[in-house]
Amino acid sequence: MIPRRPEPELMLAPEQARAYAEADFAAPHEGFVDAFAEVFPGSVAGPVLDLGCGPGDVSLRFAARYPACEVDGLDGAPAMLAAGDTLMQGHPAADRVHLAEGCLPEARGPRAPYATLISNSLLHHLHDPSALWQAIRRDGAPGAAVFLMDLRRPDSTDTVQALVAQYAANDPEVLRHDFENSLHAAFTPGEVREQLAAAGLGGFEVRTTSDRHMIIYGRLPEAR
Ligand SMILES: C[S@@+](CC[C@H](N)C(=O)[O-])C[C@H]1O[C@@H](n2cnc3c(N)ncnc32)[C@H](O)[C@@H]1O
Repeated sequence: MIPRRPEPELMLAPEQARAYAEADFAAPHEGFVDAFAEVFPGSVAGPVLDLGCGPGDVSLRFAARYPACEVDGLDGAPAMLAAGDTLMQGHPAADRVHLAEGCLPEARGPRAPYATLISNSLLHHLHDPSALWQAIRRDGAPGAAVFLMDLRRPDSTDTVQALVAQYAANDPEVLRHDFENSLHAAFTPGEVREQLAAAGLGGFEVRTTSDRHMIIYGRLPEAR
């Protein structure tokens, strides 16, 4: 297994943010909402917190799938939030999606405690992953549904290169570079299980869902 190589936490560069917002993430991001629906069947109503929301593509897709919810997104990078303006314009769910600047671990969801918390591709950015688990415990209501998807670190640099070639060959250079760095920065499912146990979330499930993704989900303890 290759060692973890952290990448910068925040995606602050405007050209990086623009390329990310313009990329076609329809398949993994719809897959995120589909996987949520599979592990938490039924409706979702009320405020939802999306941690590390970036330009808000997942927030919008989640709000579109669940018309009775509102999504509060938090991200520490102003450029990523600004890059989401074009995604918001004219989107039918945009009036139920509220993105705001805020950096973990200090930032709080504005309507905490939340009964539903989601996060896509934030965990691997964090130098100290416990910041995310603490934020979830702090801003989640007892029994809240928590669902995350993230990259998982391949076992060799050859596999990193093969994944970049397979999934990012036609992307702009900045995105290819980000994808490679993110694969090196990602955690393994085993490392995530250790993080969860240390955070008192050992009841959460960690499941491999593709050659590069894992999902992490569960309900917060009822009594804390
Ligand atoms: C790969 S992007 C994912 C964005 C979005 N969730 C998506 O799926 O499109 C990771 C995001 O996490 C944000 N981020 C990284 N560290 C953060 C922190 N400590 N607090 C808040 N946001 C953070 C970055 O700025 C970036 O926008």
